[in-house]
Amino acid sequence: MILETILSSISVDGIVNFAPMGMHLPDTDPGRSPVKRIVFRLYPGSQTYENLKATGQGVINFTDDVLVFVETALYSGCPPFVPSQKVRPPSMAHARTIWEFTVTCFDPSTEPAFLEGKIEHREQKGGFEGFCRAQGAVLEAAIAATRWQWLPIGKIIESWPLWLEVVEKTGGNREQHAFNKVGNFLGEKGIQVPRIPWDGRKASL
Ligand SMILES: Cc1cc2nc3c(=O)[nH]c(=O)nc-3n(C[C@H](O)[C@H](O)[C@H](O)COP(=O)(O)O)c2cc1C
Repeated sequence: MILETILSSISVDGIVNFAPMGMHLPDTDPGRSPVKRIVFRLYPGSQTYENLKATGQGVINFTDDVLVFVETALYSGCPPFVPSQKVRPPSMAHARTIWEFTVTCFDPSTEPAFLEGKIEHREQKGGFEGFCRAQGAVLEAAIAATRWQWLPIGKIIESWPLWLEVVEKTGGNREQHAFNKVGNFLGEKGIQVPRIPWDGRKASL
């Protein structure tokens, strides 16, 4: 199973970074002891890749706020953060759950690189608030946008109306704002996609 998370890391100079990353987890039976080891597959070129390779610590932040995914993936956004317990990178102040980890293996010989981490500390801060289909659609659009240079443009253009319909129908303020920000990002890259008519309300990190 892959869970979409916000990974915080820190550079050798102490600069904090947040970015969405898919965490690979083994399937476990409910009720079994919690997962102790996690895996990430990291493409070279990201700050997260450099930080984890150099400083070997991170925090996995679980959030259902898709605006944070879009801001950190496409706009170098930095959400409010608080100090961690066992590692140097801080955690997202509004994460629902956080897992602090240390890197036990970083293998850059494959692409994407293979990273294995050991969970050092866990904290549950908030409960599950239910699925919203718009959140999935925003994540799909955002991940496609981070790969705009490699994906065939037709693939994004073809999928866009379906994502837009789901976000317009089922999304709230933050989901719709986040989706339009993905559209703005693509527009800046010369990929024109329709936006959801926006009523001017603002949502911020
Ligand atoms: C939902 C989502 C999941 C992502 N998962 C990964 C991943 O597993 N591995 C990866 O290398 N990039 C992944 N990305 C792309 C990075 O988040 C993106 O390249 C980002 O700009 C890296 O930021 P950084 O340079 O601050 O580390 C994902 C993006 C999104 C939106």
